[in-house]
Amino acid sequence: QAFFRPITNAAPPSPTKRQTKISVIGVGNVGMAIAQTILTQDLTDELVLIDNKDDKLRGEMLDLQHAAAFLPRTKIYASVDYAVTAGSDLCIITAGARQNAGESRLNLLQRNLALFKSIVPPLARYSPQTVLLIVSNPVDVLTYLAWKLSGFPSNRVIGSGTNLDSSRFRFLIADHLDVNAQDVQAYIVGEHGDSSVALWSSISIGGVPVLSFLEKQQIAYEKETLENIHKAVIDSAYEVISLKGYTSWAIGYSVASLARSILRDQRKIHPVSVLAKGFYGIGNEVFLSLPAQLGRGGVLGVTNVHLNEEELQRLRDSAKTILEVQTQLDL
Ligand code: NAD
Ligand code: LAC
Repeated sequence: QAFFRPITNAAPPSPTKRQTKISVIGVGNVGMAIAQTILTQDLTDELVLIDNKDDKLRGEMLDLQHAAAFLPRTKIYASVDYAVTAGSDLCIITAGARQNAGESRLNLLQRNLALFKSIVPPLARYSPQTVLLIVSNPVDVLTYLAWKLSGFPSNRVIGSGTNLDSSRFRFLIADHLDVNAQDVQAYIVGEHGDSSVALWSSISIGGVPVLSFLEKQQIAYEKETLENIHKAVIDSAYEVISLKGYTSWAIGYSVASLARSILRDQRKIHPVSVLAKGFYGIGNEVFLSLPAQLGRGGVLGVTNVHLNEEELQRLRDSAKTILEVQTQLDL
């Protein structure tokens, strides 16, 4: 006897209702922080985990499955075989080496290059319509690499970029002025890393443009104070890595916010790594973060934020830094 007695004459489920599927590649600190945030925020019907360490992979899958009674219903799969990712709407790559204390992100390139050559082609083959979201570092250069290796149009290859740096920036500004970080509109653009650029001229709080407000009130603001806040953003990851060995929770929330905007077609603006050629006078094929509108198709457009001369110059310098590292790629 069946546990449930099915109701008779039930209409079949609507054929238009699609299941959403997210694959997370790499079940280390970052992959698991992303996976658990996605689950608690009910962002997908199916969650697939991939790694090359079989036991760890199965252990992480079981550990998440055992939380089923406390979470929205999501099917969780795990495998070392990429076939399980077939038909994913979003593939998030977090696999790879991370920084040792004091090491720069750009220094990771050679270690993560070979790995991407083994990860991106099978993902693209099994999910030809997916959006690729790259998190592994150096994220801007690896997003360029994923674009080349996948053969996808650039709107479907995105790096998590400075979405995280911008959250750190908003936190520090909010803390400094004792306001809510969600009321602070502020962007860090450029490289996710040491050459990132703070867009001071476009910061607003509750709709009030901060710099021009201070100037109108003739409140002297010290350029040094602003530079120190930006420096603290750049130092954030180094500090966390020197204290706990890696960063995880903030990137987990950052990537879940991107997954939501993409899969729910939110058309929200996020500073993420996109193909920057043609924007702000950047002439090369380089990925770096710009405020971009995200939706079901991936990147829908780039916002025309006004940058002053100094910001423009810093953005172009950041592009140059990334490009120099990119030229080391042996495709
Ligand atoms: P980790 O060492 O905890 O995890 C890495 C995982 O990758 C491991 O589980 C490992 O088994 C797996 N892996 C290695 N080779 C693989 C392969 N060929 N196929 C599949 N899986 C493989 O590292 P972590 O702390 O999770 O960091 C992961 C990456 O994320 C690093 O590159 C780190 O710098 C980056 N990161 C990026 C951001 C960002 O804002 N973009 C933030 C934090 C960390
Ligand atoms: C971050 C990583 C290390 O937390 O890129 O910024």
